[in-house]
Amino acid sequence: MSDSRRCLVVRFTGILVIVVLLVYASEGLNSDGLHLLEFKKFIHDEFNYLGNWNPSDQTPCGWIGVNCTWNYYNLVVDSLDLNSMNLSGMLSASICSLVSLTILDVSNNSFTGNIPKEIGNCSRLESLYLNNNQFVGQIPSVLGNLSFLAELNLCNNMLSGPIPEDLGNLSSLIQFVAYTNNITGPLPRSLGNLKNLRIFRVGQNGISGSIPSEIGGCVGLEYFGLAQNGLGGNIPREFGMLGNLTELILWGNQFSGFIPKESEIVRIS
Ligand SMILES: *[C@@H]1O[C@H](CO)[C@@H](O)[C@H](O)[C@H]1NC(C)=O
Ligand SMILES: *[C@@H]1O[C@H](CO)[C@@H](O)[C@H](O)[C@H]1NC(C)=O
Ligand SMILES: *[C@@H]1O[C@H](CO)[C@@H](O)[C@H](O)[C@H]1NC(C)=O
Ligand SMILES: *[C@@H]1O[C@H](CO)[C@@H](O)[C@H](O)[C@H]1NC(C)=O
Ligand SMILES: *[C@@H]1O[C@H](CO)[C@@H](O)[C@H](O)[C@H]1NC(C)=O
Ligand SMILES: *[C@@H]1O[C@H](CO)[C@@H](O)[C@H](O)[C@H]1NC(C)=O
Ligand SMILES: *[C@@H]1O[C@H](CO)[C@@H](O)[C@H](O)[C@H]1NC(C)=O
Ligand SMILES: *[C@@H]1O[C@H](CO)[C@@H](O)[C@H](O)[C@H]1NC(C)=O
Repeated sequence: MSDSRRCLVVRFTGILVIVVLLVYASEGLNSDGLHLLEFKKFIHDEFNYLGNWNPSDQTPCGWIGVNCTWNYYNLVVDSLDLNSMNLSGMLSASICSLVSLTILDVSNNSFTGNIPKEIGNCSRLESLYLNNNQFVGQIPSVLGNLSFLAELNLCNNMLSGPIPEDLGNLSSLIQFVAYTNNITGPLPRSLGNLKNLRIFRVGQNGISGSIPSEIGGCVGLEYFGLAQNGLGGNIPREFGMLGNLTELILWGNQFSGFIPKESEIVRIS
């Protein structure tokens, strides 16, 4: 090979490397970043808490509230924590385009509107905190689709309608907190399927009917709070079988009959 030809090859290779680098660098924000910008379109951020969500970044991993993890060779968003940022607007369904999302916390803001049905597609979710906002409408039954969900907090909103029967599908559920809403209807019998449930708090709602005896199936139950609802009937003797139950909060209802004697419940009120 002549010197000039070798020189040409070297030059060509050099140009190729630069072109490849340019193409890579101009690829722009990754898809999770784009999904977050879409999510942000429906949010009003009065105090510019999300000011560093910069569309010209390669990944959203340095953005306020965003944490990422490696999924093979890609950085993907696994948690979004936007609590107490004075945000208002809607919870956009696009949030579930983040397929690796395990923690979503938008608590203590002023979000309005419904909890989107698409939340049933956030299939990796383990913790969902929507509490202390102004969400309206019903608790979507598709939440029952989230088989890894361990913590669900909906308290202090304006949710109405019943607790969906599908909640009993959440076999990983440890905490269900939904006090101070406008929830009505009976407690679903399917609750008894929740072997991992430790905390269940639905005080200050309009729940009616009686406590289903199936509650005896919640073997891990520690805290059961029903104060200030429209419940009645007998208190099921099955509570006596729940060895870890220490708090049973029943005041402000119309129960009749006796508190189960055999129990070791520390505080009944
Ligand atoms: C996100 O990462 C930061 C820094 O590593 C950590 O302090 C924070 O707890 C994480 N947040 C969540 C919600 O995982
Ligand atoms: C709610 O958010 C405000 C600021 O937006 C903050 O001052 C307050 O401490 C937060 N409350 C809770 C219970 O986190
Ligand atoms: C946010 O809202 C709270 C009340 O919810 C208020 O006390 C606080 O001053 C507001 N401003 C900021 C910057 O968080
Ligand atoms: C859930 O995702 C599937 C496929 O990813 C899609 O076909 C379906 O429409 C989604 N459902 C909702 C309620 O978003
Ligand atoms: C339930 O989750 C599966 C994936 O785990 C998804 O394919 C399906 O569309 C989801 N259904 C709804 C109603 O969101
Ligand atoms: C919950 O389980 C029941 C019975 O297996 C099933 O019919 C229902 O579709 C499930 N709901 C969800 C939201 O996955
Ligand atoms: C419940 O509904 C009533 C009437 O619709 C309303 O006045 C009240 O403010 C609501 N309460 C909550 C906590 O959403
Ligand atoms: C009751 O609590 C103890 C101590 O926290 C725990 O080891 C045990 O697994 C709990 N029992 C059930 C049935 O969850």
